[in-house]
Amino acid sequence: MERRDAIKNLLAFVPLGTAFAGITAMGITFITPKKRDLERRIFTLHLEELPINTTKKFRDLRGKDLVLVRTGEREVKAMSTVCTHLGCTVYWEKDRQEFYCPCHQGRFNKDGQVIAGPPPKPLETYKTEISGDNVFIYFQDKEA
Ligand code: FES
Repeated sequence: MERRDAIKNLLAFVPLGTAFAGITAMGITFITPKKRDLERRIFTLHLEELPINTTKKFRDLRGKDLVLVRTGEREVKAMSTVCTHLGCTVYWEKDRQEFYCPCHQGRFNKDGQVIAGPPPKPLETYKTEISGDNVFIYFQDKEA
């Protein structure tokens, strides 16, 4: 076989190899689907179960503590009770309408923003929705 023929034969396999690689990549993608972020809307309680300026504790889908606070006629906030400083539990102070961390006097407003003390960042918050009389919280979760 001449050298020229050998190169021609070799080049004939390039498209075949490319097609094989593409099919293999599609197969791997099919077998190992990507993980996706899912947003789950979870019913928590009826609005009348949470009078204005009161709180109710819950756990998120990962078992982390969170609290619902009714801050207005049709306004409910949901946030983690874990202080962003060193992880102590924060409490809602009705009179001041603030979250208070007793460990180092950290304070957060009703939106979870730091207003005093050493916490370096806001409390983790969750999106809420009031639909009719039902209060929902949105959780982020990863699809397995
Ligand atoms: S742990 Fe909350 S202020 Fe330090």
